[in-house]
Amino acid sequence: MTSQVPTANKPNHSIIDLIKSRQNLEQFRQSHWVGSFSEYLDIVHARPAVARNAFQRLYDMILSYGTETYEVSREKRTHYRFFDDPLENGRDAVFGLDESLETFVHALKSAAQGYGIEKRVLLLHGPVGSSKSTIARLLKKGLERYSITEEGALYTLGWRGEDDETIWCPMHEEPLHALPMEFRPEIEQSLNDARGRDDYPVRIQGDLCPFCRWMYSDRMARYDGDWSRVIEDVRVKRLILSEQDRIGIGTFQPKDEKNQDSTELTGDINYRKIAELGSDSDPRAFNFDGEFNIANRGMIEFIEVLKLDVAFLYDLLGASQEHKVKPKKFAQTDIDEVIVGHTNEPEYRRLQSNEFMEALRDRTVKIDVPYVTKLSDEINIYEKDYNMDRVRGKHIAPHTIEMAAMWAVLTRLDEPKHAALSLLQKLKLYNGKTLPGFTEENIKELREESPREGMTGISPRYVQDKISNALVAHPESSSINPFMVMNELASGLKHHSLITSEEQRQRYSDLLVVVKEEYENIVKNEVQRAIAADEDALKRLCANYIDNIKAYTQREKVKNKYTGQYEEPDERLMRSIEDKIDIPENRKDDFRREIMNYIGALSIDGKKFQYNTNERLFKALQLKLFEDQKDTVKLTSLVSNVVDQETQQKIDVVKGRLIRDYGYDEESATDVLNYVASIFARGDTKDSD
Ligand SMILES: Nc1ncnc2c1ncn2[C@@H]1O[C@H](COP(=O)(O)OP(=O)(O)OP(=O)(O)O)[C@@H](O)[C@H]1O
Ligand SMILES: [Mg+2]
Repeated sequence: MTSQVPTANKPNHSIIDLIKSRQNLEQFRQSHWVGSFSEYLDIVHARPAVARNAFQRLYDMILSYGTETYEVSREKRTHYRFFDDPLENGRDAVFGLDESLETFVHALKSAAQGYGIEKRVLLLHGPVGSSKSTIARLLKKGLERYSITEEGALYTLGWRGEDDETIWCPMHEEPLHALPMEFRPEIEQSLNDARGRDDYPVRIQGDLCPFCRWMYSDRMARYDGDWSRVIEDVRVKRLILSEQDRIGIGTFQPKDEKNQDSTELTGDINYRKIAELGSDSDPRAFNFDGEFNIANRGMIEFIEVLKLDVAFLYDLLGASQEHKVKPKKFAQTDIDEVIVGHTNEPEYRRLQSNEFMEALRDRTVKIDVPYVTKLSDEINIYEKDYNMDRVRGKHIAPHTIEMAAMWAVLTRLDEPKHAALSLLQKLKLYNGKTLPGFTEENIKELREESPREGMTGISPRYVQDKISNALVAHPESSSINPFMVMNELASGLKHHSLITSEEQRQRYSDLLVVVKEEYENIVKNEVQRAIAADEDALKRLCANYIDNIKAYTQREKVKNKYTGQYEEPDERLMRSIEDKIDIPENRKDDFRREIMNYIGALSIDGKKFQYNTNERLFKALQLKLFEDQKDTVKLTSLVSNVVDQETQQKIDVVKGRLIRDYGYDEESATDVLNYVASIFARGDTKDSD
């Protein structure tokens, strides 16, 4: 056989072509721009924004994604689109924390304006798993991307060496630092005269780092103090922030207390170079690669900042308050970076009265990041991870995520003082449902009554873990349902490390019962509606009802379609429908008149009244139809497992509707029908008791 040209190469070619076509060479060139100091001055002149400080840049970055404003309980709220994580299609989106994020962004704004907050540590504080790390991760990611764009461009400087190679500043500092103090006011003035209305005033703050200072002095000596020649040796380049490359973004995570070492924050001596250069105070023999050094120009994240050793506290406080760090053997060094710390609630409480905290408390802006208390937000958190795209090969039955989220939110809510309001009803109010007798004002009061709501309770991480467990725990089934997840949630409570008392454990279990009851109601209702979703039958029943109430309100007779005879309106039929939505006998005239008026009003507009036009009547019709059909579908026979063919067909129709209209799959629809059948069977025995 003749051998064929291997085709396996082809896909590789096309992958390379694809990458080639996607690659933005222009952007690459721009982001790798290198030029002279005087060219840089021209750039700053044209776009003073390149010389923004770290706070200003971070704030502008967030705003560059735009905002939306809306109202909650008559209060204006701003939503910053940046926190939807448009960068990664919502992977790190933060839901329902607009209030906290607003506080955070306002603090940044104030820092950007130089009102004092720039001297503080921004401390995200909240219960475990409330998205503090997610927020920090977003900010870092946002800064990286922003630095690549024209809008977010920033620059740093380096020194031309003997062989024409450039040695870049290890702390990637602002090139304007190369300007001697005495010239700065004048240059600032000229830059500011050229600045646009929306630009921040240019302020050249901070001195060269020890390394650049050495380079500078070395050249001053070499060129006989001629600054213009020194500056010829300065090169400027675009700076692209990158956590991976340790440029402008740092993270510090305290290890155990004995192992903390200040060099991790402020850099370390390079012993090999000392041998070469002969002195340990030569900045060329020092690695300015501590977390504070490398995070210069961007942001540093302190994970679990309260676990920091006290010895480091002063580094941290100096860094925030003075914008200076002190590397061993060197003078104080200026830094320009946003310091974001986080700590969880239990840790914070533990240290509340200790001296460490006292020093810190004064110098931090604490931003509470609570758990969300709105059900729909909590659902969003889980749907981010558990959706049809990410969970392959397993169907998630309707309400599975919703019930888990409902439980999580319930554990976070305070029992309402209002006697007529259950905890579940409170949850629904928070979730935007209207309940008779409760106004926006009441909801606001409820929130004010419980200012710490969301600071305790079950964390999303716990629920995420349990949903994951449920997904793998039942290999035999094609879907997971709320019971599987609720069982996981319940069994995990036994050894949940953050549950501190038996009482709390009991409360969480009891709340699972509340959720199960709610689930029962929801699916009962759903199955009822699926059984009654026979459109033709609904239309017929509706027409019949309307004929009757029309005759009733106009004191006429109804024509019997079958016999052609005129008869009195069928009171029994009308009442059997109205009963379903609890319209009492003495209110029936009002209701019937209301419907007739509605029909009249619609017909003036040329519109027709449909069986589902009036929500209450629609519900009543569905319930009535369900009652009529329940027996023919013989739902309860499902429990006994002997189903005749005719019933089976009817059941299959209902199942089909559950799949088509409510998002079930074959297995979960069967499960839910069986479950509801068992509820009715239970109800039947109760009735006959
Ligand atoms: N409001 C929220 N919006 C979106 N996701 C959230 C929210 N709250 C929690 N999560 C999710 O919960 C998980 C835990 O979040 P994260 O790790 O950011 O919490 P944390 O506050 O840093 O926790 P810890 O205090 O334990 O460090 C993540 O999967 C996160 O996406
Ligand atoms: Mg965290």
